[in-house]
Amino acid sequence: MDYGPAPESTKEAQAWLEQHGRSFGLFIDNAWTDGGETFASNNPADGRELAQVTQATAADVERAVVAARRAQPGWVALGGHGRARVLYALARLLQKHARLFAVIETLDNGKTIRETRDADLPLAARHFYHHAGWAQLQSEEFANYRAVGVVGQIVPWNFPLLMLAWKIAPALAAGNTVVFKPAEYTPLTALLFAEICQQAGVPAGVVNIVTGDGRTGEAIVNHPGIDKLAFTGSTEVGRIIRKSTAGSGKKLSLELGGKSPFIVFEDADLDAAVEGLVDSIWFNQGQVCCAGSRLLVQESIEKRFIAKVKARMETLRVGSPLDKSMDVGALVDPVQQQRIHGLVESARAEGCEVWQPSCAMPDEGSWYLPTLILGASTSAAVAQAEIFGPVLVAMSFRTPAEAVQLANNTVYGLAACVWSESISLALDVAPQIKAGVVWINTANQFDAACGFGGYRESGYGREGGKEGMYEYLTPLSEDARPAAPVAIEQGAVKSVESGNPFAIDRTAKMYIGGKQARPDGAYSRAITGANGAFLADVGEGSRKDIRNAVEAAHKATGWTKATAHNRAQVLYYIAENLAIRADEFAARLAAMTGSKDPQREVQASIERLFYYAAWADKYDGLAHQPPMHGITVALNEPVGVIGIVCPNEAPLLGFISLVAPAIALGNRVVAVPSEAFPLSAIDLYQVLDTSDLPGGVLNIVTGSADELARTLATHGDIDAVWRHDGSAEGCAEVERLSSETLKRTWVGGAKGRDWFDAKQACGRTVLQHASQVKNVWIPYGV
Ligand code: NAI
Repeated sequence: MDYGPAPESTKEAQAWLEQHGRSFGLFIDNAWTDGGETFASNNPADGRELAQVTQATAADVERAVVAARRAQPGWVALGGHGRARVLYALARLLQKHARLFAVIETLDNGKTIRETRDADLPLAARHFYHHAGWAQLQSEEFANYRAVGVVGQIVPWNFPLLMLAWKIAPALAAGNTVVFKPAEYTPLTALLFAEICQQAGVPAGVVNIVTGDGRTGEAIVNHPGIDKLAFTGSTEVGRIIRKSTAGSGKKLSLELGGKSPFIVFEDADLDAAVEGLVDSIWFNQGQVCCAGSRLLVQESIEKRFIAKVKARMETLRVGSPLDKSMDVGALVDPVQQQRIHGLVESARAEGCEVWQPSCAMPDEGSWYLPTLILGASTSAAVAQAEIFGPVLVAMSFRTPAEAVQLANNTVYGLAACVWSESISLALDVAPQIKAGVVWINTANQFDAACGFGGYRESGYGREGGKEGMYEYLTPLSEDARPAAPVAIEQGAVKSVESGNPFAIDRTAKMYIGGKQARPDGAYSRAITGANGAFLADVGEGSRKDIRNAVEAAHKATGWTKATAHNRAQVLYYIAENLAIRADEFAARLAAMTGSKDPQREVQASIERLFYYAAWADKYDGLAHQPPMHGITVALNEPVGVIGIVCPNEAPLLGFISLVAPAIALGNRVVAVPSEAFPLSAIDLYQVLDTSDLPGGVLNIVTGSADELARTLATHGDIDAVWRHDGSAEGCAEVERLSSETLKRTWVGGAKGRDWFDAKQACGRTVLQHASQVKNVWIPYGV
């Protein structure tokens, strides 16, 4: 017995295309543009042209940004409830026209109708419903935030409408207006969505849709009127965007590539795992950023499991995406087919076994058979590169520790699947995997309430959930920041005690791995006080000192594993020991900066240590209840090793305000204290030594902020860099250089910050910089 054909009708979709004369302008300010250069959008299943769409120019993008800017105050003024109604109307209309959207998506992208109908459309509608809710609750849940402004959004071709929903729904909910660009291969559902916006009563200029290729994308990225960019696509383009927006002050979220592991332990329900694997790597022909493209299977069951996988692959049906009984549709474009082919052949040439089922494939269009590669080395191109096709690379492991090590052997960190009937094993492994999403005994689950996004070179920022809303909001306290670093209020300066050469430590060292260390280059610089007198020589840190500090930080993994209670205790202890020496620190501050009221800074520093000690065991995650039968646990995990260039304003308080939240949440830190006033940070060594802070958790390297920031930003083993010394060019450079390894950055730019003001210097915003959310999906039931 075999399946008969079950084709979905394209009548309505063709009629919609005809109604537009198979030619589309741009949707700007609630109107369609005419004329301009166009290009074809084809059906990948048969190569035929569906419609011509416009290649938006920089001038078009300019018009869209102007319209969005003009519309933004009115959109905010509509209020949370007003916006909620519009978002709700969009959700309803998406549902009402779900079949039309699904068919157009299938025609334009090549993915099966089963997927567009059962996954893309319901998830897109759910996103608008969910975010109608956030708009409604905005004044309560995000009272201290405002919309960012005009948002540029660029998406790829693999989930055209769903990515649109992920981008546009939260942006609008928060009160932003958007200039949105679909991918050049798949623009049609975005154009249909524009019509839905008109029907839903979205005010003119709130949603602007510009079609075009990378040139249009570039025009959006580089437009000075864009306040935030949200990009999903290749890591390569993500890097370009990071570089070209460096120093612009544009907020940025990047959802990039992946090479996600699918780990099967010997005690897993193997048949369920095989079905999970089908959803993981053959969903959307494997053109999924979080596809489980690396199968890691425990050696003891490897043979049995691979045999089951092959048997299941034999039953996959490849063919017309409009046929409701097909499992695997067409690839988006012949270019993609060539790319996949090249990578698979490279594996064959290296001696790997390349296995494909015997199923038939249509003659015309772009297709690729589900493929299994066995025997690849861990460094092979197919084991490391994002293939973005229906190709699974299988490897084995012996122990859970080896599974984790192999899982993390990638530059990416988007997602992972863990299959085991032992909840204790699965939940032990999940936190050890460096990825933003971990699915336990399930795969490719998504929901609007659960954040999605990557670690490492898979990008940063989250989409969905409350954490996704923050990407489209700016804390009001940012607007209150002073235009330039705050000058220290200086009093009459007393001369430094003279005559006694031992009164001052003239050979201040660095602090690396819990020990004082001489600068590698054996250079030092003289620090003079507010009255111009010499205070001390301070080591001039170099690339080598940073390397040593990073190495020490990496060794201090115990800190990340320590309980939050324990970390809080250490912070309280540092505060206690600082309090004992408060007078000494005040005197040092007065001598360095001429501060009129140095005690105020010392007392504020003690309070800030208490503040982050308090947060250490309270910055809990969330337990979401998505439609799946189970829970999704959102964990706030530390980022890893953070390089922090501290401010010159309030040199002690500024230092503590940045270092304390980082270590409170389990990060390890390489800190560069104020270049002008480093001595209070150096004085802290003794406080740290007596406060049970394990060696390597906080490393302090003194010297040139520019030089050291450059080294931190280019270091491959640093996960994030913060710079807050008021140097605009220095901050821009950190952002530019961070693009190499796509490390997260938090920079203050040229503005100042009142470190005494809790609104500007404390709070969730800081904790969010010090953490990254991992969503662990745990279905249950028997
Ligand atoms: P891409 O990253 O070039 O395109 C994604 C979007 O960015 C498209 O809308 C494109 O027009 C736009 N774009 C291209 N260059 C740009 C630039 N310089 N500035 C601004 N926007 C720009 O991805 P592409 O070429 O479609 O696919 C290439 C490979 O990237 C795939 O084979 C896959 O490995 C990976 N990829 C990963 C995705 C993911 O979700 N992680 C999605 C799409 C592609």
